[in-house]
Amino acid sequence: MPSLFDPIRLGAITARNRIFMAPLTRARATMDHVPTPMMIEYYRQRAGAGLIISEATGISAQGLGWPYAPGIWNAEQITAWRPITAAVHAAGGLIVSQLWHMGRLVHPSLPGRGQPLSSSATTMPGLARTYDGKHSYMQAKAMTHDDIRAVIAEYRAAAANAMEAGFDGVEIHAANGYLIDQFLRDNANLRTDAYGGSIENRIRFLVEVTSAVAATVGADRTAVRLSPNEERNGVNDSHPEPLFAAAAAALSDLRIAFLEVREPDFDGTNGRAERPPVAPLMRAAFDGVFVLNSDYDFQKGQAALDEDKTDAIAYGRPFIANPDLTKRFAKGLSLTADDKATWYSGGASGYTDYPAAE
Ligand SMILES: Cc1cc2nc3c(=O)[nH]c(=O)nc-3n(C[C@H](O)[C@H](O)[C@H](O)COP(=O)(O)O)c2cc1C
Repeated sequence: MPSLFDPIRLGAITARNRIFMAPLTRARATMDHVPTPMMIEYYRQRAGAGLIISEATGISAQGLGWPYAPGIWNAEQITAWRPITAAVHAAGGLIVSQLWHMGRLVHPSLPGRGQPLSSSATTMPGLARTYDGKHSYMQAKAMTHDDIRAVIAEYRAAAANAMEAGFDGVEIHAANGYLIDQFLRDNANLRTDAYGGSIENRIRFLVEVTSAVAATVGADRTAVRLSPNEERNGVNDSHPEPLFAAAAAALSDLRIAFLEVREPDFDGTNGRAERPPVAPLMRAAFDGVFVLNSDYDFQKGQAALDEDKTDAIAYGRPFIANPDLTKRFAKGLSLTADDKATWYSGGASGYTDYPAAE
């Protein structure tokens, strides 16, 4: 069985180890969603990961509702990403861009946004972060077929922009209750047309987006992230096992570079999942590189490889406070705890000032 330190081929690229950095929103871009120089240093410090999956990055203003999160829909953003991808490459690393449309989570008070889009006319529960405090969400507009075509075109353009910005590929963010997940799972998708109802219909938007992105940058540079097992941003499904096995099978047919699955512990130390793991059904249905995420430490990650549950592990929070996580795992060094207060606070504190162990 492979070790976490063994290389792995991901379609067109080869990661030098199987310790990936999971996508982490850190809100250090400008108000106009342009990456800042601070982000060059942050990603450079973490280039020892086999692969960095970037923080979620907006494909359009209409699809991005997170204050100070970066985007990749205009020339200024592409230009500002270039030194980041170059710094990661110069340090021997690889980085893919996580493409994000937030759907009904976009608040209309942000500049240039209108009524949010979703599969159906539902309202995200709770309060949105905006530039002037927290506000109730607005009911989404159920996307027309023209809207669907337009958003797929935005994914396509954003994927091309990511390649222009020097990324090694893209990961389509289809997890955590955002737009694509709002099509997948049945408590948010109430449609009665070809994009709603049956499993085949609910995975249609995911398949169309993935096919369009793969046609643009190559299937061998296209990855997808799914979160089958827990309510996220109010999105959930009554029968996730057949739904996500079907999604994995459809993505397998598209021959994507890898499939990343975020699934929390069911009976482990955290024990947060609502039901037994769905990932084994997805791994069985997916003929390609499989990546697991959530709540892994070094031992649990290696055990998952030993048991052939996955081909690599994506670590999220451990990479926040341990830029040299791969080296710490290799040398058995202790890990630093991250400070939640600085996750989205802006500034270098809690961002680029976590030192390497040596
Ligand atoms: C601060 C923070 C930001 C996150 N941002 C993203 C994101 O941009 N995209 C995404 O798919 N998941 C995001 N997540 C989820 C992580 O990728 C990961 O799934 C989660 O932290 C669980 O993995 P871990 O136990 O290794 O931390 C975020 C999590 C945290 C803590």
